[in-house]
Amino acid sequence: MDLKKQIIETRNLFHQALSAVGTLEQLEATRVTYLGRQGTLALLTDELKKLAPEEKREVGALLNELKQEVQKLFDAKKAELETAAQREAAEQLKNFDVTAYKQRLQGSLHPYTQVIKQIEDLFISMGFVILDGKEVENDFYNFTALNIPEDHPARDMHDTFWLQTPGWLLRTHTSPVQIHAMQQRKPPIALAVNGRVYRHEATDATHDFMFMQTEGMVIDKNISLAHLISSAQHMLRVLFEKADLKFRMRPAYYPFVEPGLDIDISCPFCKSGCSICKKTGWIEAAGAGLIHPRVLQAGSIDPAVYSGYAFGFGLTRLVMFKYGIHDIRLLHSSSLDFLKQF
Ligand code: PHE
Repeated sequence: MDLKKQIIETRNLFHQALSAVGTLEQLEATRVTYLGRQGTLALLTDELKKLAPEEKREVGALLNELKQEVQKLFDAKKAELETAAQREAAEQLKNFDVTAYKQRLQGSLHPYTQVIKQIEDLFISMGFVILDGKEVENDFYNFTALNIPEDHPARDMHDTFWLQTPGWLLRTHTSPVQIHAMQQRKPPIALAVNGRVYRHEATDATHDFMFMQTEGMVIDKNISLAHLISSAQHMLRVLFEKADLKFRMRPAYYPFVEPGLDIDISCPFCKSGCSICKKTGWIEAAGAGLIHPRVLQAGSIDPAVYSGYAFGFGLTRLVMFKYGIHDIRLLHSSSLDFLKQF
């Protein structure tokens, strides 16, 4: 067959082959067949070299045309197939099946949430109501009604965030809830509150300007320190899952209780002193006491008839102890690496 005919034949065959191509792999195979170093077009070029010069011009032009056409069609087909592949990938992504993951990512409850739930269950089982307080309070509920009048030095112990509205502040403790409850309820009252409190303090591993407290209060006839101690002990034993947790009471001063005391627990982490209990074997857990008659009066409850106890646990400290968290800033961060552990 003369070369001219072969060129025309090749052109037809290439068109046929290309129209049958459906994938990029098939296209590559076709490229090798026609445009490859040993491909049909290379062979035809070798044949061309054998022709006489005058024939060469004419047939050479034809072959050149074919080469250009083949390259152009090949490029177009390649672009077409690539676009189709991209569209298909996008389509698949659109129908991405989130349930198809074998190993699902699971969230977990924040350590605070876990402990609060435990504490709430515990107090509900003892017949307490769980109340919610307000984080923005005024001077009366945070201080005055709690027997901390203006100019009382105890105000200095609470580095207060005052708001721009005079007399309003971010509560420095959960004790204001005591007064709200006395005003709204009639004895017998038994309540527990978990909530945030704020102190204007520098932040370090054990201090933050926000932390959490658990307030408890019981008011009825003949309430004594014995009631206070037994319910506080019960709560701490359940929380730390240690029936042999030991307790220590120390006299302490809080203007809103009389007598006032601090409750310490034996360090749950060591027997003879560690860095957490600062080598003392004891950890401070709560401030507590019998409600001062003046506080009962501020809440319109007759101290001649009723008495009550109150305690304020450092909930943040308890959570840190329970889980062995050494830096309060981690507890208050949203670091997933930290939170994943719970
Ligand atoms: N409100 C006190 C504090 O934040 C704790 C406390 C509560 C003490 C109830 C006695 C009774 O320090």
